[in-house]
Amino acid sequence: MDYIYKKAIRPIFFKQDPESVHSLAVKGLQCLGALAPIRAAMEKFNLVRDENPVEIFGVKFPNKVGLAAGFDKDALVWRAMPALGFGHVEIGTITCHAQAGNPKPRIFRYPEGEAIVNFCGFPNDGADIVADRLAKLFKSKSKKVPLGINIGKSKITPIEDAAQDYVYSYNKLADFADYFTVNVSCPNLPELRKLQSKSELSGLLQSLKDADAERAEKFGKAKIPFLVKISPDLSFREIDDIIEIAENMDLGGIVATNTTTSRPDGSNYEAKGGLSGAPLFEKSREVVGYICKRTKKPVIAVGGISTTERASMMFDAGACLVQIYSSFIYNGPFFAKEIAKSLYWRDGRKWL
Ligand SMILES: Cc1cc2nc3c(=O)[nH]c(=O)nc-3n(C[C@H](O)[C@H](O)[C@H](O)COP(=O)(O)O)c2cc1C
Repeated sequence: MDYIYKKAIRPIFFKQDPESVHSLAVKGLQCLGALAPIRAAMEKFNLVRDENPVEIFGVKFPNKVGLAAGFDKDALVWRAMPALGFGHVEIGTITCHAQAGNPKPRIFRYPEGEAIVNFCGFPNDGADIVADRLAKLFKSKSKKVPLGINIGKSKITPIEDAAQDYVYSYNKLADFADYFTVNVSCPNLPELRKLQSKSELSGLLQSLKDADAERAEKFGKAKIPFLVKISPDLSFREIDDIIEIAENMDLGGIVATNTTTSRPDGSNYEAKGGLSGAPLFEKSREVVGYICKRTKKPVIAVGGISTTERASMMFDAGACLVQIYSSFIYNGPFFAKEIAKSLYWRDGRKWL
């Protein structure tokens, strides 16, 4: 199937503008999401499940491969993704206010390097609309794999008021989240990455933890794990600060990494924005390895996982789960399944 995708389908898709293809794919996946019997049959065939699901930060994952944030920004297609083999889905980034994002064109493909540059800037329907959508879809009890919700700051909210913006989204979306990823690392929003500094980040996370504790006490709900998604452009000293925060504040873990603003020497990825895909791999792996040597906190590795070997290398570096985005575009719809299968072979385990 991946061969057919690469030889016959991808060349047609790649003649179109990336966002138009994305909208088309979203429509197709929404149809799949709504067709429960087909979805169920495909899940049976494609969703590689461990005999003993992997339990990380208190959440059980059927396999170790997830869809990274940014593909399903508005919670439209998460129901369909297990049918393609994904063992978890991270939706978002969702912000308190609905926003259009940066002007188009803002996604650029570089097929020769299996790279993507995006300058999206969190276009999304906003926490209110996404919460209503999730409430409707949850009624049909269609959640087959854990759902991570990635939240960010609205562009119109000043950086000093960031915590209120994140807490609003948390309160709206908490009933649907198996975990939250706090995105402070997108390079396409002015000033957002300042929230990665020690004082800003601990203040932001404390506000979220307080909101979570209040919800747990008021409604008798379980606390929700928070993960923080970091940039690959941080210095090791800055990463040390984030590890310290993750440990002191008992975070669920760290998602490493987001896209990079740097470019490999001699590359032609000249579009403005964050670079993802194959050229990001070494940088992300270095960050994952650095974190895993210094803490036992779980790390979800994301960045340039373009082959099954690279997924394996992220686990060798200490990751406990991986996520993909760009290689889903370049390698085809069932690449998550291929990675999940390769991991079971590697670990000498059986899948159901
Ligand atoms: C078009 C596009 C949009 C993205 N949007 C988001 C986003 O909204 N929030 C986020 O946390 N990451 C976003 N990302 C980053 C991915 O989640 C991921 O961290 C990054 O692409 C590296 O993984 P990859 O090399 O497998 O693509 C986006 C990536 C791309 C290519």
